[in-house]
Amino acid sequence: MRIALLGTGKMGGAMAHRLASFGFYVTLWNRTPARATELHVGTVAASPAEAARGADLVISSLTNDVALREVYLGGDGAFSAGENKVFVDMSTAGPDVIEELGREAHARNARLISAPVIGSLPAVAAGKLLILAGGAQAAVEEALPVLEYLDDVHYVGERESAQRLKLIANSMLGITSAAAAELLVAGTAMGLDPRQVFSILERFAPGLAARERGFLRGEHAPTMFAVRDLVKDIRLGLRAYEQSGAITPLIRDTSALYEEAMSASAELDISAVIEQSRNADRTTIPPIPS
Ligand SMILES: NC(=O)c1ccc[n+]([C@@H]2O[C@H](COP(=O)([O-])OP(=O)(O)OC[C@H]3O[C@@H](n4cnc5c(N)ncnc54)[C@H](OP(=O)(O)O)[C@@H]3O)[C@@H](O)[C@H]2O)c1
Repeated sequence: MRIALLGTGKMGGAMAHRLASFGFYVTLWNRTPARATELHVGTVAASPAEAARGADLVISSLTNDVALREVYLGGDGAFSAGENKVFVDMSTAGPDVIEELGREAHARNARLISAPVIGSLPAVAAGKLLILAGGAQAAVEEALPVLEYLDDVHYVGERESAQRLKLIANSMLGITSAAAAELLVAGTAMGLDPRQVFSILERFAPGLAARERGFLRGEHAPTMFAVRDLVKDIRLGLRAYEQSGAITPLIRDTSALYEEAMSASAELDISAVIEQSRNADRTTIPPIPS
């Protein structure tokens, strides 16, 4: 089976490696071609359309809505590659752009699945991603023989629901990481052993384990998931919550913390949020009532 992979960033590159290791023939396209060539996997196409043309299934993993419009709808965009193809977008880009692309796909007789993923680079390498698949069930079933190599596929209904669920997931990731950062700094300030504090925090939020190096040693590179991308997802989440009328003060406070982290740490891993807690200007913290 031939797969086109559009966007060979951290996630797309890791998926290309995994799928190639199972014998899939992959054609890669990336805006910055060197990033695709350096993977030494499959072949590299000159445009999204060229990559998609010969493929049985097209997968994309891209930063945001701007990237998705360019890659799918641009001059040599993926949608110009032909009718009846199944396109699986695994980006986190929000419900609005997915709705727009879904309409464009329909107009071209193509089928689009939104399949944002939960899990980072170690999960891709280990085949332990959780894939939230939304779109026509028949199209999802067609993509399953490939997606199952990345692991667990949960069918969630509409494409927009997959994106909304993913925004909930990343809001949770943002809140738990920020809470862990704050409590680790607080525990250390009280004279506790940071490793003991971290192991307690991990019991409540097992996902923290993948970021032990960042939280305990302040090593926020190489980046698994960049602060700028979490900020993008929290902004998308806040917009979606507001549209629905939901009240979300906790994610608003968390958002402010990551927005602040952007100036110094945009490209670093989200564990860098602990530097915000360490450097908090204590003069702005109100005294604790007696
Ligand atoms: N990293 C994680 O742990 C993780 C986990 C789950 C979901 N995600 C989501 O997966 C997606 C990819 O994330 P990532 O971590 O792999 O990010 P990344 O390493 O920054 O890769 C982003 C990809 O998007 C491409 N891109 C960005 N802007 C573009 C544009 N205007 N036109 C065409 N291509 C463009 C980049 O191309 P260039 O190489 O040319 O810049 C690159 O291929 C994002 O939606 C992210 O939120 C990430």
